[in-house]
Amino acid sequence: MFSYIKHLGEHVGAEVTVRGWLYNKRSSGKIRFLVVRDGTGLVQCVLAKGDVSDEVFDRHDKLNQESSLQVTGVIRADTRAPGGYELTVTGLEIVQIAEEYPITPKEHGVDYLMNLRHLWLRSSRQHAIMRVRNEVIMAIRQYFYERDYILIDTPILTGSVGESGQTLFATEYFDLGNAYLAQTGQLYAEAGAMAFGKVYCFGPTFRAEKSKTRRHLTEFWMMEPEVAFNDNNDNMDLQEEMICYIVAWVLNKSRAELQVLERDIAKLEQVKKPFPRVSYDEAVEKLRASGESDIKYGDDFGGDDETVLTNMYDRPILVYNYPRKVKAFYMKQHPERADLVLCNDMLAPEGYGEIIGGSQREEDPEKLIARIKEENLPLDAYKWYLDLRRFGSVPHSGFGLGLERTVAWMCGIHHIRETIPFARTIGRIYP
Ligand code: 4AD
Ligand code: MG
Repeated sequence: MFSYIKHLGEHVGAEVTVRGWLYNKRSSGKIRFLVVRDGTGLVQCVLAKGDVSDEVFDRHDKLNQESSLQVTGVIRADTRAPGGYELTVTGLEIVQIAEEYPITPKEHGVDYLMNLRHLWLRSSRQHAIMRVRNEVIMAIRQYFYERDYILIDTPILTGSVGESGQTLFATEYFDLGNAYLAQTGQLYAEAGAMAFGKVYCFGPTFRAEKSKTRRHLTEFWMMEPEVAFNDNNDNMDLQEEMICYIVAWVLNKSRAELQVLERDIAKLEQVKKPFPRVSYDEAVEKLRASGESDIKYGDDFGGDDETVLTNMYDRPILVYNYPRKVKAFYMKQHPERADLVLCNDMLAPEGYGEIIGGSQREEDPEKLIARIKEENLPLDAYKWYLDLRRFGSVPHSGFGLGLERTVAWMCGIHHIRETIPFARTIGRIYP
């Protein structure tokens, strides 16, 4: 009978076969130990001389790290064993003897490991991070599914700038000029919201970011809900509720992984509503009063400013109503303060920075056209987007959650390159 390691507990006393790779091995007198991984867990397999043929017993010596194999044996409960069960070997088949494995338990530099990312993914730390990522994605999808949002998959090849001309990847598109890799699905999600009321998109997005920071990738995943008739406050309420849901889900499902990552769980348990709401104006005052930032009124926050600001709180904060000049063209102008837009960023605690950017959208076609012109964007490419303001325009709002930054925060890891299976940064396209 075959079993994944995760399900060995259902087969105590029975003989089962496990298929996987050698994680570790050792010897002690007439006993040989193999720790096998199959992606769902680890199990220690015990070979005793005399219990198996000498030929099978000697196969232990030939196996090195990451050799692929198939082990058959009887399952015993053993609280001291990793995973809680041990396998007493009755049979051992070698699938392949691996070449000398380049990643060993000793310390390696990050660059060395990133070049071996295709193999590094096999390590227990990477397993923990990818499992947390999987749970964050499941939490998001479930959250929106339970609330009747429709998933709208937005295109990756687009004809218009979504966020800013400075960070566009362009490619030739047959006879039609340039196409761009989507920086956001938002503009299309807005069309979705006018069709279905509440929608979200969730896919890869691209930024030709020149910034080499621990928070920037050139390809990252973004989840973007868009809701008709929501104003900027409704939008912040939604963010707050969704983040609490995700954090609770991860605390519930990913305890073991958070332990592997040595995450301080108490910090995540503090993430409860309400999140402090701080206007941009107040945030600048607080930063200047702190003496740790030289921000000028009207500037966007840098990563360091965000860290100083969020260190004043024990949970995520919502900074709202930024100057129009530092934000994208589609944001709705503040009704009393023409220099501001109705928007917000959510800044995560513990220095994880901006995990969400959102806003109410400009629904007045004249104001929107003026902003498109002001940004020197080609009006033609936005004709369809302007149609949304001509045929039953309504107030609407939405936001984008950066998946990798959220996973980094959940896991408590410094750099986001480990939160995506194959990171793309300014200096990396391999493997
Ligand atoms: O603030 P941003 O640029 O907002 C938008 O793209 C809007 N269109 C979203 C919307 O309203 N529908 O990006 C949203 C989030 C950021 O808060 C951040 O978490 C993440 O996406 N992000 C990045 N993550 C990794 N690497 C980068 N280069 C990122 N740029 C943005
Ligand atoms: Mg932003």
